[in-house]
Amino acid sequence: MVVVITGASKGIGAELARQLSAKGAKLVLAARHEPDLATVADECRQAGATGVITVRCDVSVEHDCQTLVTGALLAFGRLDVLVNNAGATMWARFEDIEDVEVLARIMQVNYMGAVYCTRHALPHLRASGGLVVGISSLAGKVGVPTRTGYSASKHAMTGFFDSLRIELGGSGVDVTMIFPGFVSTGIRENATGPDGKPILVSPVKEGEVMKVEDCAARIVKAIERREREVVMTARGKMGLWLRLLAPGLVDRIARRAVEKAGSPQGQD
Ligand SMILES: NC(=O)c1ccc[n+]([C@@H]2O[C@H](COP(=O)([O-])OP(=O)(O)OC[C@H]3O[C@@H](n4cnc5c(N)ncnc54)[C@H](OP(=O)(O)O)[C@@H]3O)[C@@H](O)[C@H]2O)c1
Repeated sequence: MVVVITGASKGIGAELARQLSAKGAKLVLAARHEPDLATVADECRQAGATGVITVRCDVSVEHDCQTLVTGALLAFGRLDVLVNNAGATMWARFEDIEDVEVLARIMQVNYMGAVYCTRHALPHLRASGGLVVGISSLAGKVGVPTRTGYSASKHAMTGFFDSLRIELGGSGVDVTMIFPGFVSTGIRENATGPDGKPILVSPVKEGEVMKVEDCAARIVKAIERREREVVMTARGKMGLWLRLLAPGLVDRIARRAVEKAGSPQGQD
């Protein structure tokens, strides 16, 4: 099985790569920082991957995404799974944001990055009867204060992949959407604050949220079963049902979770 993972240099993407290695996958690891990718590639080889290449790729640039897919084909001759995982977040109230360009950048990486990679991978996924995976977020299902641009980008992913799934019906290509809550990675330290710079200190008690190993293990299972979607926490699942009956209550819960940042039950 040949798997392309974007955002594989750290966090969920890197752990997913390590866990898929143990199952003997061939991996194409993509991100912008090549030294980090090289480290993850070594770990994957040690963990049992039957082939690993790294590709420097900024998913916000369509040509990079095209080169990524070409690289996978040249190295392994086929493509079975594309995991659209690369992403960036923010932590600022909309009215406090100094330069609204921040929202455009997040949209370009989280949403258009997934669109570009999927566009170039699809002919090859059709040939293999493959799978497209989108790593969204609970914020791709519900609104979250301080995450306007992020939540919009993840909702965009959800709408795009839900629509694409229908278009691909009968093609042999499946679409799997993943909706994690907070997972302990460096994403929040790098979150863009109101001044456009990384906030550097995570507002969340990272030791109390889902471990990256558990998140990646659930994604591996979803890939193996070609599941339609995975809402990762019980509280997330309950919130989606509750939202149908009492949307205002769910808004209040989201507000409270962010106000007392550090709540392990939050949505990113
Ligand atoms: N952690 C959470 O709480 C959480 C919750 C829900 C959903 N998610 C989603 O899960 C995915 C992975 O997040 P994470 O927590 O693992 O974050 P992370 O540790 O910050 O890793 C993000 C990855 O994305 C890559 N990336 C960022 N911008 C990129 C770009 N323009 N082009 C290519 N790669 C880029 C980074 O690599 P380079 O910097 O080397 O490019 C890195 O490998 C994201 O889509 C995120 O929204 C995370």
